[in-house]
Amino acid sequence: MKIKKGDLINELSLPSINGSVFDLENIKGKKALISFYRYSSCPFCHLRINETINNKDNFGENFETIAIFNCSLESLQKADEEHEKANSGLKVSMKTKLALHMMRVEIPESAIDEINNYIDEELLTKDERFGQVKGNTTVSNTYSWGLVGQIKQNEKSAQIEFPITDETQGSVPGQVKTIIEQCARTYLQKAFDMDAVIDAFEAWSVHSYAGDYNPLHDHGVVTQQGLSCILYLKVPPQIEKINAEEQWNLANNSGAVDGFTYFQWGVNGRSDTKILRPATDEYVKPEKGVLMIFPNWLRHAVMPFSGEGERRTFSTNINVMDKLILKQLG
Ligand SMILES: [Fe+2]
Repeated sequence: MKIKKGDLINELSLPSINGSVFDLENIKGKKALISFYRYSSCPFCHLRINETINNKDNFGENFETIAIFNCSLESLQKADEEHEKANSGLKVSMKTKLALHMMRVEIPESAIDEINNYIDEELLTKDERFGQVKGNTTVSNTYSWGLVGQIKQNEKSAQIEFPITDETQGSVPGQVKTIIEQCARTYLQKAFDMDAVIDAFEAWSVHSYAGDYNPLHDHGVVTQQGLSCILYLKVPPQIEKINAEEQWNLANNSGAVDGFTYFQWGVNGRSDTKILRPATDEYVKPEKGVLMIFPNWLRHAVMPFSGEGERRTFSTNINVMDKLILKQLG
């Protein structure tokens, strides 16, 4: 049967996809769009149907759409099932490309207390000059000479060497080295399925007070591959109470990222997300007991904060040697 413009359809009765029978009587008194399609799995037809569904609101109220396919009811029902599974009859899979692996570890509070006690009792008291000069760059175990941190606002502001290579049986540094290297091993296995020789070869603690900050920088290691980490040991209450979810609202002096660590692994800014480029930076709120492990090339900075209290972190650099490469070298 051929139809032409102006023809009236008086009768139409066809099997419907839901198992019932569709009859023109069903839509009597309503406006309707009856459209005709090719075979049940035709991707173009599915796109058209999608278009129609997406524009449903533009057709007004009391409007029905009827799609008639040139195929058997069974094949239409099968295509409908596939459509549910896929997307408009098109098989879809996202191909998201990774740019960075960061690992977050929660260290038990008892271990954090032990590390803090060790720093307080062994490291900060090692040189009797500690606490006399802002920044403490003159004490014998200062590590400021090798770091870019601008940690100098308070008599207790300091960057102190942590003797991570102290292998004395049962020593706190020895235990810390074991934990860090275990975490680094897990990182490499999870991120790259890599078995490697790992060595946490240097470490330091940073004691920041109001106004202290750390400019954007990366870390150095001896080997070609390397990892770094930050362990948050003390966080002042005014930083603790900041809601990390609101970190992008910096208007009106919100202080939304005061004392946060800023990580940056690309050039995309906030407005790039509006043109479908993924963000390549993040502010991480310091949380006591949290250890962040990342590749040593990852640029990061620490925002200053105001108010009382110490923001204390521990960091270490880790040499990484892939065992596969070592094997090839003999
Ligand atoms: Fe750093």
